[in-house]
Amino acid sequence: MPLILGIESSCDETSASVLEGSGDNVSQKSLVILSQDVHRIFGGIVPELASRAHVTSVVPVVNRALDDAGCTLSDLDAVAVTYAPGLIGALLVGVCYGKALAFGLGKPLVPVHHMEGHIFASALEHPDALPPFTALLVSGGHTLLLDVPEWGSYRLLGATRDDAAGEAFDKVAKLLGLPYPGGRPVEELARQGDPSRFRFSRPMLRRTSEAGDDDHFAFSFSGLKTAVLNAVKASEDLAADAPHIARGFQDSIIETLAEKVFRAARQFGRERVILGGGVACNRTLVAATRAKLEPLGVSVFAPSPRLATDNAAMIARAGIFRLEKGDLGELDLNAFASRPLPGLIAA
Ligand code: KG4
Ligand code: ZN
Repeated sequence: MPLILGIESSCDETSASVLEGSGDNVSQKSLVILSQDVHRIFGGIVPELASRAHVTSVVPVVNRALDDAGCTLSDLDAVAVTYAPGLIGALLVGVCYGKALAFGLGKPLVPVHHMEGHIFASALEHPDALPPFTALLVSGGHTLLLDVPEWGSYRLLGATRDDAAGEAFDKVAKLLGLPYPGGRPVEELARQGDPSRFRFSRPMLRRTSEAGDDDHFAFSFSGLKTAVLNAVKASEDLAADAPHIARGFQDSIIETLAEKVFRAARQFGRERVILGGGVACNRTLVAATRAKLEPLGVSVFAPSPRLATDNAAMIARAGIFRLEKGDLGELDLNAFASRPLPGLIAA
């Protein structure tokens, strides 16, 4: 069975993974993820520091992934690497290293779009998480709602008009004095919150909207963030109110996400939904999406946290698909800070 190495360096994780297999019959041999701690003290990612940290860690991370998989470079059949979207300097480290490796080994180089990786992540753990499905990708940089009739064919239904879902969690965390990245701390604090204390309006959630309306599948989270800011400013005892504000915020964002996924699955008659991206680590989101869709016979798949957040296994998994399709990179492959998902089809 072919062995493929995946490399991911688009943001603040240096990751490498070895997968074995072909088609949808793939097994994970190893996955190493090195998260860059340095950004915590700045409360957000500092791009130049991210690039430098990738430079020092990419070689040991790849070597460790090969060791864990019990193989050597010469056993590899292909090298897949994230080439877009992301921080340009960070991406360039993985792209340059991947190109050099593939060239040196005389093996195919497979460029992978980071968001296509997130679409494939659930399939690494759930054998039934295969298209056709509805996909909701919610990360620190993206909020995408897609209909996926087959691998490599993506109907973009909706995206955020301003902040990404994870970005909203991170900004609200900052307002509440919680550490970065803020998704998990907000989710934990919200558990102690009373849902009736702060009710924020649900962004872009007109009950009367219909398929074809501009806002039917679209997202917007910056107004919600401002509503939280106003609540924080008006609070006379923020320490006491913070759990309730976190709960109100999370209820609003989750209701919006779950409702839009529901609309998409219903419109296209899909029986499966996959969630991906860091915000898919949010257990309350996964539970709410299941509660809304399972009664209709729709299965909801979410990757475990290591595979929901940025990782190279999802890049290698999408890489196998692209390799088999013959979508290879040459030595002039470049990195791109933004790039549309490959395989977009008309909505
Ligand atoms: O996919 P990811 O690892 O990196 C990007 O490509 O952005 O996503 C990171 C995002 C951060 O905004 C983080 O706060 C959010 O995922 N996140 C969460 C949770 N865990 C991570 N958001 C909500 N609830 C969580 N439990
Ligand atoms: Zn990501």
